[in-house]
Amino acid sequence: MENNAKFYKIITYGCQMNLHESEKIAGILTALNYAETDDDEKAKVIVFNTCCIRENASQRAEGNVGALKQLKRKKKDLIIAVGGCMTQQPGFADKFHEKFPFVDIIFGTHNLEKFKDLLLKKLSTKKTVISIDEKEGEIIEGTPKTRTSFPNAWVNITYGCNNFCTYCIVPYVRGRERSRKLQDVVNECKELIDAGYREITLLGQNVNSYGNDLGNVNFATLINEVSKIKGKFRLKFMTNHPKDFTEDLIKAISDSDKTCKCVHLPVQAGSNRILKLMNRRYTREDYLEKVRLLRKYIPDVAITTDIMVSFPTETEEDFLDTLNLVEEVRFAGAFTFIYSKRNGTPAAKMDGQIPEDVSKERIVKLIDAQNRINREQSEQYLNKVVEILCEGYDDKKNMYLGRDTYGRMAYFNGNDNLVGEFVNVKITKTGGISLVGEIVND
Ligand code: 5AD
Ligand code: SF4
Repeated sequence: MENNAKFYKIITYGCQMNLHESEKIAGILTALNYAETDDDEKAKVIVFNTCCIRENASQRAEGNVGALKQLKRKKKDLIIAVGGCMTQQPGFADKFHEKFPFVDIIFGTHNLEKFKDLLLKKLSTKKTVISIDEKEGEIIEGTPKTRTSFPNAWVNITYGCNNFCTYCIVPYVRGRERSRKLQDVVNECKELIDAGYREITLLGQNVNSYGNDLGNVNFATLINEVSKIKGKFRLKFMTNHPKDFTEDLIKAISDSDKTCKCVHLPVQAGSNRILKLMNRRYTREDYLEKVRLLRKYIPDVAITTDIMVSFPTETEEDFLDTLNLVEEVRFAGAFTFIYSKRNGTPAAKMDGQIPEDVSKERIVKLIDAQNRINREQSEQYLNKVVEILCEGYDDKKNMYLGRDTYGRMAYFNGNDNLVGEFVNVKITKTGGISLVGEIVND
């Protein structure tokens, strides 16, 4: 039985969006009677779902593909497929094929739904299949999904991005923004909640512009409609763009009793000169005003962010603007990045790229400041009872884990029956970002 069983393995790089796309690839493979494994030796199909947002993500993917050369030599019937943002870059696929001729299937971001056909073509012709659609097509509904993040479920609401921030490769590899129909999104959410999922995360490069291409709906409408679904669940969404994060939307979020009290609002930089060069289309003052409004309607909201240091020409003064914005807003968490030059973007052609040692110094200062803020915020949790949605078991800590409505992670002792349940946890220990506590009865 074991010998005849067909197994697949998917290696995903990058963001939630990619993790969810991998769930679709997994769904397609499951429908073809493949089962998941994390053992390369056992796998008949290995898929790399790649990312190219920063150079190191691409390098890691290439390194890991290269490392399979020996295995492929040994196991002739192994199929290696590489897809996602990295392969979608203009002119990339042919060079990649030259470098890694043993890769069987190369596919892009626009034709993920065709993965089944590509795999069947490979199996029948035995020839390398390269399939990169240059342009994004219509949204295809109904792709099967093998979900991996219970009790959370990801739901796409938009694909692509129209913003063209000057550092960012996404608009070039994901195409123009397209919104799914409101009813398709709501139906999917309903089905998921009926199936027992307790957290829905709506996904898009900029969820705030949802519906711009549909005409009669916007993101606030969507929040309203999803919030009407019966049952106890949490609603989250990512990611937001400050320029489209309006007061009306903030009101809709605060009116929804399903929406979590955490908002991810990427700021990228605190200097107006840099924000302009980035083509972000808001100023530091605009951003701070959005924060003020958010806190007006949702006073205890946890705001998280993305920040980049060392955008071309960033001076020490620009960097200090970012650092003191962090102190001023007191984010509940921040993903911090060193600017990474992406060929094909306007910023790659700018003079004034920042030396590596300066970048490292800046990011360390930024991370130190944010870590201190995290610790100070964690301390406020001591002895408080918080409602946690139990997500699963952590092998390293030997404890169960979950998050509260503010997105704070807590660890506690429990049992498997609690996964997908809401539990009250009294926080007994605070440290870095995450908390430790014990379950209490209400
Ligand atoms: N270099 C570094 N970070 C980047 N991001 C996007 N493009 C780049 C780049 N070229 C970051 C932004 C974005 C997050 C998803 O990744 O902060 O919000
Ligand atoms: Fe990239 Fe800007 Fe679009 Fe985000 S909004 S995906 S940073 S271009």
